[in-house]
Amino acid sequence: MAGIDYGERIPNNVSLGENRRLQRALEEWQPKFLDWWMDMGPTGYQERDVYLRTAVSVDAQGWAQFDYVKMPDYRWGLFLAESEPGRTIGFGDHMGAPAWQDVPGEYRGVLRRLIVTQGDTEPASVEQQRHLGRTCPSLYDLRNLFQINVEEGRHLWAMVYLLDAYFGRDGREESEALLQRRSGDRDKPRILGAFNEKTPDWLSYLMFTYFTDRDGKYQLASLAESGFDPLSRTCRFMLTEEAHHLFVGETGIGRVVQRTCELMREGKTDDVRRLGGLDLATLQKYINFHYSVSLDLFGSEVSTNAANFYTMGLKGRFEESKKRDDHRLKDATYAVSELAGDRITSRETPALPSLNERLRDDYIADCRRGVDRWNQIIKKHEIDRELRLPHRGFHRAIGLFGEVKVSPDGRVLSEAEWDAKKHEWLPTETDQAYLESLMRPVTERGRFANWIAPPARGVNGRPIDFEYVRLA
Ligand SMILES: [Fe+2]
Ligand SMILES: [Fe+2]
Repeated sequence: MAGIDYGERIPNNVSLGENRRLQRALEEWQPKFLDWWMDMGPTGYQERDVYLRTAVSVDAQGWAQFDYVKMPDYRWGLFLAESEPGRTIGFGDHMGAPAWQDVPGEYRGVLRRLIVTQGDTEPASVEQQRHLGRTCPSLYDLRNLFQINVEEGRHLWAMVYLLDAYFGRDGREESEALLQRRSGDRDKPRILGAFNEKTPDWLSYLMFTYFTDRDGKYQLASLAESGFDPLSRTCRFMLTEEAHHLFVGETGIGRVVQRTCELMREGKTDDVRRLGGLDLATLQKYINFHYSVSLDLFGSEVSTNAANFYTMGLKGRFEESKKRDDHRLKDATYAVSELAGDRITSRETPALPSLNERLRDDYIADCRRGVDRWNQIIKKHEIDRELRLPHRGFHRAIGLFGEVKVSPDGRVLSEAEWDAKKHEWLPTETDQAYLESLMRPVTERGRFANWIAPPARGVNGRPIDFEYVRLA
């Protein structure tokens, strides 16, 4: 069961061959997906051999195989984590009942919306990142970008499988629509805000993979708890792939910090722009931006939708099954931020409608761990500076803080104070222009752009100067 059948047109471990109707629907969708990929996927490099990993089984050990593949030949398919016999619903009103193997009729619309919202982010990030190949800082980084891109494409397949297999005609229409929306398009934008932002340069991309892909991890982890078993199994396997994206973000920013510190010491200056590097102040601004737009993805602090998803058994908490409480939360409370005039306080609030905020808290704690590790790098260079996550209310568009202006250290500001200071906190056009001036492609084996250090090790035991992408 763990093995994946690559003999079929659509690789899968869901016995697709036994479901003719579904097979036909997906085989009709497949060429449209490829058209989208050629149109909106990475520009250039589609004819190049890229050293990519492909899933060969869904086991925790040795699930991947590495080889040179041209991206359009990547074997996108349907891979679900193995089913757990006797699995029951772990939370909400249906707790203890057998997990649903089919869509519960009364939750059909809600479930479809959850799947579509998640599914929409997958092609969106490929679209956002499509021009980055042109300015890659190394072949190693270029390969990692393409690995992420093909896997986000596979995540789209994962969600389309659920839509086509379980939602009939509506599902098929949604599958088409997922290929029609476009990131940043005025008329047919992607569903969520952060997925319509531009990813114009490699620092933004690394920040995106650290902060925005991490939102994905938390959404997938809470959907992996779902009482709808096919969704749970799909998300569990997606999380294995997602871990690599987060690794690229965390180590990528770590390498930028490393290089910045080296330049600071060599040049005995904070202003490493003179040396063609990215100064810590600029890095901080990009952290502020990407962290704050990613916080918005969790939604409002108090949300009836979040409460309903939970009560219905569709979307759990992060690590729901590890928690030791009643998993119904009807009488529980949770501390949620509150505005008292121009002061930010917190108040115990009913736990169910606070589930977005709880997931955001889990996310924030996780974000902090990476920032701590980046600060360790700075410390090792004996530099007395720190990177920080801004206050959760900083630069927010959704929920409680969408109505006020908050400084990175958590003070509520007047509009005038905000306007006077925001350019110190968020990337300006000048910062962006400088950043883009650094984006010159480096494609010689083993060489890296001046603003980023080489990684500690290569991919899959290969050396750092391995030919990760064959340019000829
Ligand atoms: Fe994804
Ligand atoms: Fe991802």
